[in-house]
Amino acid sequence: MTKKTILITGANKGIGFEIARQLGISGHHVVLAARNELRLQQAVQQLMDLQVDVSGLLMDVSDVASIGQAADEFGRLNLKMDVLVNNAAILDKRDHSILRDDEEILMQTLTTNCYGALRVVKAFLSYMKNPSRIINLSSGGGSMTDPVGVGRRLTVFLKHCSTP
Ligand SMILES: NC(=O)c1ccc[n+]([C@@H]2O[C@H](COP(=O)([O-])OP(=O)(O)OC[C@H]3O[C@@H](n4cnc5c(N)ncnc54)[C@H](OP(=O)(O)O)[C@@H]3O)[C@@H](O)[C@H]2O)c1
Repeated sequence: MTKKTILITGANKGIGFEIARQLGISGHHVVLAARNELRLQQAVQQLMDLQVDVSGLLMDVSDVASIGQAADEFGRLNLKMDVLVNNAAILDKRDHSILRDDEEILMQTLTTNCYGALRVVKAFLSYMKNPSRIINLSSGGGSMTDPVGVGRRLTVFLKHCSTP
């Protein structure tokens, strides 16, 4: 196996953390990105306890300045990335129609789930190997055809935006 460097956004818990854990114990170098410093440190420590080669990167994907700072920090680590996993996302739990959701929820969801993923790609592109891979997590809730999503959920087109 060739050891790869893999950056995962929103990796302090949930699916992002599990992706990091499994890739880490498989022998890859995982870079955990998260917006909450304490929870990031705790997640990094958990993987260090499993002897994983792990680094932490503070990054709020809804904040352009934070993404830029994280990319600069990544550059200082003198690393090149094999894989970027755009995992960070939010989901409004109220299950409203997109036509009823208020402006703040709409903008925060778009800024995180759609523009966030795109901005992370743009900011980190120069640190990616050639070839490398970008994986964008989406959701059935973002499907334009799945009856779970159609017309009911805020995520319908929001998550669809982040689908490559
Ligand atoms: N769970 C499911 O059933 C399911 C199904 C289909 C698709 N997915 C997709 O899988 C991915 C992970 O879902 P999950 O269930 O693991 O969700 P989760 O447990 O809520 O975890 C989401 C992660 O994203 C982070 N995050 C949210 N906003 C962020 C921001 N602005 N900057 C940085 N990090 C941010 C969260 O950090 P904080 O701890 O700071 O909030 C958390 O670490 C998402 O893309 C989701 O759409 C999940």
